[in-house]
Amino acid sequence: MDINKNNANKYSDICNKYNDKYNNIDNLNAIKKFKNHPIICNLVDWNMLNKILKENNIRLIDFVGKGHRGVVFKGLMDDKLVAIKVPRLGAKNTIYHEGNILKEINKFGVAPIVYNFSEDFLIMEFADGITLKDYMNQNDIDKKELLCIIEETLRQCLRLDLHKIDHTEIQGGKHIIVNRNDNKNINKIYIIDFDKAKKRRAHNFTSAMALFFGKCYMANKVKEILNISEDEERYIMELVKLYKKIVLR
Ligand SMILES: Nc1ncnc2c1ncn2[C@@H]1O[C@H](COP(=O)(O)OP(=O)(O)OP(=O)(O)O)[C@@H](O)[C@H]1O
Ligand SMILES: [Mg+2]
Repeated sequence: MDINKNNANKYSDICNKYNDKYNNIDNLNAIKKFKNHPIICNLVDWNMLNKILKENNIRLIDFVGKGHRGVVFKGLMDDKLVAIKVPRLGAKNTIYHEGNILKEINKFGVAPIVYNFSEDFLIMEFADGITLKDYMNQNDIDKKELLCIIEETLRQCLRLDLHKIDHTEIQGGKHIIVNRNDNKNINKIYIIDFDKAKKRRAHNFTSAMALFFGKCYMANKVKEILNISEDEERYIMELVKLYKKIVLR
């Protein structure tokens, strides 16, 4: 066997694969564009982002969103869509903490899968879909579909409670992502944004129950769609009280 020829073929295979999926020129062009973005231009260490993309073989696709602590981009890594969260300049850096929490809760099937993280970045599964808040603002919500979303969200919140991980922001509804498949059926529910999560006696389940059945705007809509009577509402709240008394004791 001609070893040199074999190595040369291997090398050209790797180069082709590399060029197909990842091209730093594309990333540099995308970064150049984002540097003029009216919202995030001054919020990101662009050199660091370029380094992260290069080291993890990620092709930058788009800017997804920003919060108080992080800026999130969409990218392609080994044919997988990923979300790249980087710390927001001038804000408290909670990226490493979030990566660690994700690693722990991924073991019991909660949150986007974390692929790699450090103090400078968090690369995780891209949670494709719409926020629960946006979902609830749609017209003609299917009763069965809504029940399925509520059931799965509560199930994940219970798992978090049992493992004593408190998300702390469940009640807002903007951290729950509803993912549908190609047939527009519910595929998966993702709970995202664990940067403020705490390891302590957790209140995710009661927060989610308040979000779905309490007194807020979303709960009122849920109760209307599911046609929940006042008696049933009282019964649900009794269950929540019991949960608090027995489980959160
Ligand atoms: N894994 C993900 N997949 C898809 N989109 C995501 C993912 N993680 C975050 N996002 C998007 O990026 C936005 C900002 O992310 P995130 O909420 O985690 O930032 P943050 O700075 O921690 O926000 P906050 O100020 O609410 O704590 C989210 O609202 C969401 O739209
Ligand atoms: Mg956050």
